[in-house]
Amino acid sequence: MEIFVSIQLNKRSSLPLYQQLAQQIKNLIFESQLKPDEKLPPIRKLAARLGVNNVTVVNAYRQLEQDGLLYSKVGSGTYVKPYPPSRGANALTVTPPFSGLEYSIPGLNIMDQGQLHIPSGSYNFASAIPTPELFPVADFKQILNEVLDRDGGSAFAYQEGQGYFPLRESLSRYLKDNGIGADESSIQVISGAQQGIDIIAKSLLKPGDFVITENPTYTGAIAAFKSRGARIVPAVLKEDGISIEYLQDVIEKYRPRLMYIIPNFQTPTGICYSEEKKKALLKLCQAYNIIIIEDDSFTDLSYYTQRLPIKIMAGADKVIFIKSFSKILMPGLRLAFLLAPNNVIPGLLKAKHSSDISTPGLIQRAFDLYLRKGLWEKHLEYMKEKYQQRYHVMLEAMTNYLPPEITYSKSGGGLSFWLKLPAGGSSNHFYTRCLEKKVIISPGSLFSASDERDSEYFRLSFAGLYPDEIVKGIQALSEAYEYRQNQLLARNSYSPLL
Ligand SMILES: Cc1ncc(COP(=O)(O)O)c(C=O)c1O
Repeated sequence: MEIFVSIQLNKRSSLPLYQQLAQQIKNLIFESQLKPDEKLPPIRKLAARLGVNNVTVVNAYRQLEQDGLLYSKVGSGTYVKPYPPSRGANALTVTPPFSGLEYSIPGLNIMDQGQLHIPSGSYNFASAIPTPELFPVADFKQILNEVLDRDGGSAFAYQEGQGYFPLRESLSRYLKDNGIGADESSIQVISGAQQGIDIIAKSLLKPGDFVITENPTYTGAIAAFKSRGARIVPAVLKEDGISIEYLQDVIEKYRPRLMYIIPNFQTPTGICYSEEKKKALLKLCQAYNIIIIEDDSFTDLSYYTQRLPIKIMAGADKVIFIKSFSKILMPGLRLAFLLAPNNVIPGLLKAKHSSDISTPGLIQRAFDLYLRKGLWEKHLEYMKEKYQQRYHVMLEAMTNYLPPEITYSKSGGGLSFWLKLPAGGSSNHFYTRCLEKKVIISPGSLFSASDERDSEYFRLSFAGLYPDEIVKGIQALSEAYEYRQNQLLARNSYSPLL
């Protein structure tokens, strides 16, 4: 009963009390504070302790039973369901695979076939992509002309599946300059990081395999793993990265094949792993022969302390490192690369070939020239300055206009902030309210690795807004919040008929 003291229910929240309770018990299970087969408090006792109706507890327990997290014994009580005894058994904290992209939340039609619906004139804090005027169009036009003059029709032929060799040479040099030794033979050019995750899943996973991911995480990765029939083991994230204790526990139980992580400016939380955590993680994965997929979309966007990828560390030779150029160059180029151990490359190449044969040769040749001419470094500096400015404007606007009960932490990099509503708050409802004010936020449930339907958290990205829009957008969001609070207060106020 002691740990249940931490549970706080907000009677003013629009999220029903039983859902708030279920969510908080779920968190206790995922954080291993409630152990497998541990008995939960009797309904009446817990209801009395929380000051709620018995029905609230009954409904919360029932929902968690339906979610496969609890079981009940007739005449005895309700218990935490244990982890599955072996691979293939019904997993409990793991989420099942699905056969297609399932981004939508019941009752909240945010995503339409992987695309966000953004009404015109809205403040779009949901998309973490740069505004198009930041794209280096003039430089790229010049480069494309040079490639066409130089290579003629060859630029439009099929390119080798692993990637245009001179580009792999340039990437190898770029990696060495960044402290990562990489031979051209271990580089695979990909049509975006998303494809990289997808071909890794395709070549390394069998249906039923377990994959550890951070929770919350990048939804595209979850979709790729699930589409191969894999089961997700969501790992608890602390302020300095995944909880190692929890990790050890789930590794022992599930024997996962892969672990997918974003160690610097994690999506969506912005968390950066401490160096100790990175080392501990690497050691653990080496001991259990688990392949780490390191998604490095944001390391280059360290505004204060320069963060470093795990791949740079000694002993990281088995880490598959994926680098996207979408956030800093242009997302529509569909260009990224991955660095993988040589024994994994042939399988990836096969998967890549069955996916799109090769990344377009013209784009690869152009990017090669872009790197060789030193334009990438120049553009990176430019983008870092622009993004850093937006980061500051956003921080200042949040300090000035957000109500103090909405909290967030400063990541010092990346493209977004992860915010928290007061206990029991529903970011799904808040999304709807913000939409009325033409503000688009990303509710936390969009990033859930555990099929969570609602959350107190939401993400705001500043990448796709101009500084003045950021300020106006945060003002509008604060108004949306205040309005909602006032509505709730009005609904709860008592007016006796005297
Ligand atoms: C963490 C993370 N990884 C991968 C991707 C996909 O990147 P790409 O455009 O290179 O496919 C994204 C896109 O938002 C992302 O946020």
